[in-house]
Amino acid sequence: MPETAPIAPASADAARTAAIAAIVAARQDLPGALLPILHEIQDTQGYIPDDAVPVIARALNLSRAEVHGVITFYHHFRQQPAGRHVVQVCRAEACQAVGAEALAEHAKRALGCGFHETSADGQVTLEPVYCLGQCACGPAMMVGEQLHGYVDAKRFDALIRSLREAQASNETTEAQA
Ligand code: FES
Repeated sequence: MPETAPIAPASADAARTAAIAAIVAARQDLPGALLPILHEIQDTQGYIPDDAVPVIARALNLSRAEVHGVITFYHHFRQQPAGRHVVQVCRAEACQAVGAEALAEHAKRALGCGFHETSADGQVTLEPVYCLGQCACGPAMMVGEQLHGYVDAKRFDALIRSLREAQASNETTEAQA
């Protein structure tokens, strides 16, 4: 059986452009269509690519600046692809009362990046979040889809280390295949 060729970047770009056009076309007549469109693009593409802005603006009869303004107003929307893993640290009140600020500062130092940024190795994107429903177990954080409670600096480091070790092991396995 012939090996499947990797998707060429041009094809990937074309597929992404087509996917975004379909999302916009399906939602452009909704009342308040901009936010549903942006959410859907981020959910499917992982971020809002720059070239989506003119497509959205044209469909909704808005200026590019208006669309861009909404994207930058809501920190939820990413303008760059996220790292391999998204780590969300809760910054809401109950977690703050038990050390979330110290955890957030430690996370930034340990990853060498701020909130809404990605570590230099491309592994971890750090995001703030405002309540994960784990208020009794704070400080809380989420690694991908996995919730973690009672997180202190030591536990944070262990979680990040295990992410990196798992990644290195996957890469070794792929290289040997
Ligand atoms: S305040 Fe952090 S989980 Fe609710």
